[in-house]
Amino acid sequence: MKDYVKRDLEYIWHPCAQMKDYEELNPIVIERGEGVWLYDIHGNKYLDCISSWWTNTLGHSNKRINKAIKNQIDEIEHVIFANFSNKPAIDLAEKLVSITPEGLNKVFYSDNGSSAVEIALKMSFHYNMQRNKTKKKKFVALSDAYHGETLGALSVCDIDAFNMIYKPLLLDTLRIDGPDCYRCKYGCTRDKCSARCFEAMEKCLVENHEEISAVIVEPMVQGAAGMKIYSPIYLKKLRNLCDKYDVHLIVDEIAMGFGRTGEMFACNHADISPDFMCLSKGISAGYMPMSVVMTTNEIYNCFYADYSERKSFLHSHTYAGNAMACAIALENLKIFEEENIIENNKFKGRLIEKLTIERGKNCSHIGEVRSIGMITAIEIVKDRGTKERYSWQSRVGYKIYKIALKKGLLLRAIGDVLYFIPPYVISKDEIEFMIDICFESIEEYFKYNFKIE
Ligand SMILES: Cc1ncc(COP(=O)(O)O)c(C=O)c1O
Repeated sequence: MKDYVKRDLEYIWHPCAQMKDYEELNPIVIERGEGVWLYDIHGNKYLDCISSWWTNTLGHSNKRINKAIKNQIDEIEHVIFANFSNKPAIDLAEKLVSITPEGLNKVFYSDNGSSAVEIALKMSFHYNMQRNKTKKKKFVALSDAYHGETLGALSVCDIDAFNMIYKPLLLDTLRIDGPDCYRCKYGCTRDKCSARCFEAMEKCLVENHEEISAVIVEPMVQGAAGMKIYSPIYLKKLRNLCDKYDVHLIVDEIAMGFGRTGEMFACNHADISPDFMCLSKGISAGYMPMSVVMTTNEIYNCFYADYSERKSFLHSHTYAGNAMACAIALENLKIFEEENIIENNKFKGRLIEKLTIERGKNCSHIGEVRSIGMITAIEIVKDRGTKERYSWQSRVGYKIYKIALKKGLLLRAIGDVLYFIPPYVISKDEIEFMIDICFESIEEYFKYNFKIE
């Protein structure tokens, strides 16, 4: 029964991976976790500086959350969510309405980020069909966007590695060149933003608004694009533009919600309220699959009618409103409040940024260090002056990730962007360890392993 690695490779097809890579880097089988640390079956430990796919908020095996699970499991684990409900789901919905931006009064539960995006797209379209805006069949998305990998969600993504092959199957989406503050065409920086990059969005809505149901964006940070951070001015303008042209704004807070950007929700930076807000990942502290779509009473009321009118929104997932996940989310939010997590993160976020900038200054391979809240990203470039990237086949980020693993750091890169998105419980010593090992790994790679490819 033992040989876990051998049996993993025999039976499992892992996500987001070329399985052939596993020949030289075997799966790391994790036995337990504590705080920011993961422990494998061989006794090695790794600092999880990416919060296990950006989802863990309060550390692995958090005692309070573990207790909440134990309490809930003796009550009810799961119950059908049509016609039936459960206490944690009701408490959580009420809590979410109280902490999200004004006007988001209804909560629709689901169980993963991609399905939340599907729901928001379908609800927007369906709402428009029900008020006879039958031309509104299109969605607008930004270049480099990531919103998940089911076919609808993939249609509004713009990352070749995920999209390319499926293009014949995808919805016809209007793609707009989005903000790109590191390589801004207009010579702006994030802090000094003229928002000229918004003109493309404006033109698109002016010309096509009659056909557009919704615009979808990742607020403040395009995560999978390499933690591309942009100005809140863009979001403010987008909210106004959508209002002007009767187009919904879908804000995908799946990765950025629950404090990641330094505010509870990323759209708080721009003080806007969307028509749909998708939440997942941090909502359940990295413990259980869960997502929600929040929307307005106006949209909800458009579906509220006698059954015979056939206006119901019939989208359903078996695990919607799962009582265990909701109990976890409630405890997660309770800890946020009682332990003043967002406020305490300010010091940690600034420390990570400061130490990274200091260490990065003399490293000629680093094009930019960018940071917001509890995210700091390091973009490795071929040439600092021109900001030229290495070819994707060089896999510089991946090779640095492999070196860092040997030194006890889980530093999974996006292309050549290395980034820190640690659980919020990370300590000062752990922050120093994380940054030291990251730079040691970068230096070691360029000194000993680097070949021009
Ligand atoms: C912004 C954003 N939207 C959607 C998703 C998809 O979520 P899931 O992987 O749970 O389907 C992700 C996942 O990383 C994401 O970052």
